[in-house]
Amino acid sequence: MSYKIAVIPGDGIGPEIVRQARRVLDAAAAKYGFELEYTALLMGGASIDAYGVPLTDETIALAKESDAVLMGSIGGDAKTSPWYQLPANLRPEAGLLGLRKALNLFANLRPAYLYDELKAACPLSDEVIGDGFDMVIVRELTGGLYFGERHTEVVDGLRTATDTLVYIENEIRRIAVKAFETARKRRKQVCSVDKANVLDSSRLWRTVVEEVAKDYPDVTLSHMLVDNCAMQLVKDPAQFDVILTENMFGDILSDEASMVTGSIGMLSSASLNETKLGLYEPSHGSAPDIAGKDIANPIATVLSAAMLLRYSLDEDEAANAIENAVRQVLKEGYRTADIASDGCTLVGTEKMGDLLVERV
Ligand code: IPM
Ligand code: MG
Repeated sequence: MSYKIAVIPGDGIGPEIVRQARRVLDAAAAKYGFELEYTALLMGGASIDAYGVPLTDETIALAKESDAVLMGSIGGDAKTSPWYQLPANLRPEAGLLGLRKALNLFANLRPAYLYDELKAACPLSDEVIGDGFDMVIVRELTGGLYFGERHTEVVDGLRTATDTLVYIENEIRRIAVKAFETARKRRKQVCSVDKANVLDSSRLWRTVVEEVAKDYPDVTLSHMLVDNCAMQLVKDPAQFDVILTENMFGDILSDEASMVTGSIGMLSSASLNETKLGLYEPSHGSAPDIAGKDIANPIATVLSAAMLLRYSLDEDEAANAIENAVRQVLKEGYRTADIASDGCTLVGTEKMGDLLVERV
């Protein structure tokens, strides 16, 4: 069996973490008897440098032809990078949003759990951590504020900026279905997060989620306001199984959830559509300040590669092997700087890759 993987190394630490993820993928492929054929694609800042735009039709076409897309991270330092002198629709982030839209990747799954070994890196107190936590954020990814009409104009002599938050019921329904399906394979609890005390889009969200819930009587549905959810994530993270939420809230809450796991460098993500094709990327950004220093944590990208094997290629055994390798390396006390604690062995990006490859 041979699979076509489109690879977008991206900007900042992207290329170095993707390099390690590919090595780990290759080790898993060799062990479980399949082949991976990679096509490197440019997107984000790297694409701007080469073609003047953050996303080309060719990149979209090649991504569509592949079985899955593995991505590092895109973007640069907004203060110093020339990319941010460009109009907003030509900046690196526009490439990522364009690709998500072009591939119709409406469902973004971001698992956040606390490894026993990383309890020391978790910023929460021992009483709050208890026996740890294990949740998945199911974030709507192709609607809402990110894709609504926006413009800046002068009204009555005052600069005025407008962003529009639109949700259509079918967009809510399909992401809700993903969340309930995800919950069915877990602890069967969906917490839908919105701002229904203020926003119309949230009130529709709540109504549609409740309609979908009728098809899942075995799953318990609750609702929570987003401000409360932000608080509950640091007060009692163990209460969550599946968090279902719209695009912008999901962006914010997933960074928060990742930080309570100890480091944003651990959190993987899968962006899926109705087919097997998916895009897999760490939840963290391109960290240009530490790029090229061999200190970035490749684990979020490696775990994203494991999700790629599981969701797009159905190579579950290989995915398990990678996840076990991560657990093993942590158990043996190896840490990159972001998750380091007393008594651990500090390793760089490349060395972490070596250790993971050996344990797959
Ligand atoms: C993420 C990122 C992106 C987002 C940015 C880079 C546009 O923060 O994947 O969470 O906001 O979706
Ligand atoms: Mg984000």
